[in-house]
Amino acid sequence: LMAIEFKNLEQLKLMRRAGLVVAETLELVKAAIEPGISTNHLNEIAVKHLKKSNAKSNFLNYHGYPAVICASVNEQIVHGIPNDNKIKNGDIVSIDFGAIVEGWHGDSAFSVVAGDADKEDLKLLATCEESMWRGIAAARVGGKLTDISCAIEEYINSQGKYGILREYGGHGIGSAMHQEPHVLNFGAPGMGPELEVGIALAIEPMITRGTHKTKVLEDEWTVVSQDGSRGAHFEHTFTLAPDGKPFVLTAFDGGKSDLGRLGVEISSLIS
Ligand code: MF3
Ligand code: CO
Repeated sequence: LMAIEFKNLEQLKLMRRAGLVVAETLELVKAAIEPGISTNHLNEIAVKHLKKSNAKSNFLNYHGYPAVICASVNEQIVHGIPNDNKIKNGDIVSIDFGAIVEGWHGDSAFSVVAGDADKEDLKLLATCEESMWRGIAAARVGGKLTDISCAIEEYINSQGKYGILREYGGHGIGSAMHQEPHVLNFGAPGMGPELEVGIALAIEPMITRGTHKTKVLEDEWTVVSQDGSRGAHFEHTFTLAPDGKPFVLTAFDGGKSDLGRLGVEISSLIS
């Protein structure tokens, strides 16, 4: 489908239910991350919470993907497949997860350091996360899609020399996980489709401490940096609600604290 799917309030409320399942699951997974545990164990936590929530996975069997989370460690940036390897002290662990409730999708991701963190790794993660919030905060009804892209890139570049992945980006989301439009994490503002009420986008910057260049491992999924530099990935699903204000469907507080800090008021139509 080449058209953007605009959602009404009723549909956005179903997407919020999916978003809350995603937020709860990621909270449980994050709490379990420590040196010595495996990413397969994290996947099991997510499987259990999906079942308990009567939600379905949008990752499992997606083009043959074999798990409900993506778990990417260190130089793996995104789409890592969970395995039995033990997470080590100081590893960067990036978890991506999505859920479907009554046919409506949510998608979110975070990166965290297990155990003792290198200071530059923490800076990498903070830069990636804040670029995601700056991107969401740049979305305005009547604005253009690449206003988001530009805000993400400008923030990252203001923080140091990071590689911003070019071949991967954010996406429309709703009655399917991946919809139009593709959202680049770089570029000039003022281009692409106009942002209108009812649009829902997954915003997901992916950056490294080195090159933007990537390769895909033999498993045909895991995306690693070509120079072995460590990466980070944050993602939230948000909408521009019928009152014209944003709401972050995969954040417990709808984005109130982080968007508020950036001077953007969130919608009160969804809770
Ligand atoms: N959630 C990822 C994204 O952000 C896609 C995961 S690929 C899958 O777009 F195969 F794991 F589903
Ligand atoms: Co996504």
